[in-house]
Amino acid sequence: MSRTLAAILGGAAGVMALVGAVVFLLWCLSHKRSVSRTSETGSSETSVQGRHAGVEMSLQEARRFEMEELSLATKGFSEKNLTGSGKFGEVYKGLLNDGMVVAIKKRPGAPSPEFVDEVRYLSPIQHRNLVTLLGYCQENNLQFLVYEYIPSGSVSNHLYGPGQTLDGKLEFKHRLSIALGAAKGDPLQNQSAFWLSCACATSLISPHATGLAHLHSLSPRLVHKNFKTANVLVDENFIAKVADAGLRNFLGKVDVAGPSTQVTSDEIFLAPEVREFRRFSEKSDVFSFGVFLLELLSGMEATQPYPGASQNLLEWVQNTQDYANFSSVVDQRLGSSFTDEGMEEFIQLMLRCVEPSSERRPAMSHVVTELDRIIEKEMNLTTVMGEGTSTVTLGSHLFRAAK
Ligand SMILES: *[C@@H]1O[C@H](CO)[C@@H](O)[C@H](O)[C@H]1NC(C)=O
Ligand SMILES: *[C@@H]1O[C@H](CO)[C@@H](O)[C@H](O)[C@H]1NC(C)=O
Ligand SMILES: *[C@@H]1O[C@H](CO)[C@@H](O)[C@H](O)[C@H]1NC(C)=O
Ligand SMILES: *[C@@H]1O[C@H](CO)[C@@H](O)[C@H](O)[C@H]1NC(C)=O
Repeated sequence: MSRTLAAILGGAAGVMALVGAVVFLLWCLSHKRSVSRTSETGSSETSVQGRHAGVEMSLQEARRFEMEELSLATKGFSEKNLTGSGKFGEVYKGLLNDGMVVAIKKRPGAPSPEFVDEVRYLSPIQHRNLVTLLGYCQENNLQFLVYEYIPSGSVSNHLYGPGQTLDGKLEFKHRLSIALGAAKGDPLQNQSAFWLSCACATSLISPHATGLAHLHSLSPRLVHKNFKTANVLVDENFIAKVADAGLRNFLGKVDVAGPSTQVTSDEIFLAPEVREFRRFSEKSDVFSFGVFLLELLSGMEATQPYPGASQNLLEWVQNTQDYANFSSVVDQRLGSSFTDEGMEEFIQLMLRCVEPSSERRPAMSHVVTELDRIIEKEMNLTTVMGEGTSTVTLGSHLFRAAK
């Protein structure tokens, strides 16, 4: 544990210097930009206008790629470079000419201006906690989306996938930090120099930037519509990045299965009003986020049957009255890396997110505030008692009957 921490801190120092340089560069760039824009227009108005008014400093426009370039990057879309397939189609890992590693999504589809419009809308939305859409390509009746590549994989892989590379390292605080990253922006600010420097960089680039909450704060707001554990990627520093924001907009009117059928691991993230009426909203994102919290908590897919019950994990959690029984849902691998209070508050927050009634769910900004508070408290309590102190044992006394 301490060796890992030392390694992280060691790496952090190096990265910090780099981040510092980048921040300075960005600052210079923004300064230069605003200066030149001011002199061009003859006014001091420097904010970006129009559909992206909420996003500051879009350094990058959507790029149009040549299919040849993408083909070269993936050795002719070789199966060896195929990393999976999702809603949009096959996903390849590619190495661009300039040395950048990207994730390329490919599907059959006739060229359409709407496709380009959607890319132009989505790609300037950039944030440390969002996987950036770099560009697109439409050729030979194929459509491609090109994203930044996140090496460490999705939270679902780490929790219950075949790789489970972070297994054992995913302590409660890490999971909280990932949850907060996916919800907001800055993870535990006082955790390490690296996080601290990133937090500074974030506030410099866009002071109000957030993850899901960030999407909801845009003008016009962007509903993710496809938030799920598999779409939360983490890099080697446990920085969460939300993937596929707005991807459903490319898919057209794809049917969402009705409420009666057996739910798949994707559908379980959809709020009741989405499954019945296709009514996507910020609150349906909040529901999806709640299911994500449940998976973080249990280390299992929410579709898994609850042991000894005829319900799946989500249904069980939504229906259970006896607070004491929640200890059976908590991932055993968390060991004693959490406090009663922190866990109890986490569960309460999760329960409010998965309320069947959308009005009763909190807004994402409130979820962020709550997670922030829970983390701070958890840090306070565990720091006082010393790192790795066993503060709790799993058992029925864990959750006091008080609700
Ligand atoms: C694509 O596959 C080839 C052959 O296995 C491999 O050499 C190359 O590194 C892969 N490219 C990427 C970007 O992973
Ligand atoms: C967090 O970091 C800031 C800046 O380094 C420091 O001023 C503050 O005291 C720290 N807070 C805690 C609770 O350690
Ligand atoms: C809740 O826990 C109690 C005591 O451990 C047990 O008897 C009961 O069956 C549990 N209820 C459910 C729904 O699991
Ligand atoms: C954490 O500790 C600080 C300093 O003791 C205190 O001001 C703050 O309120 C505590 N936060 C929580 C959430 O308990």
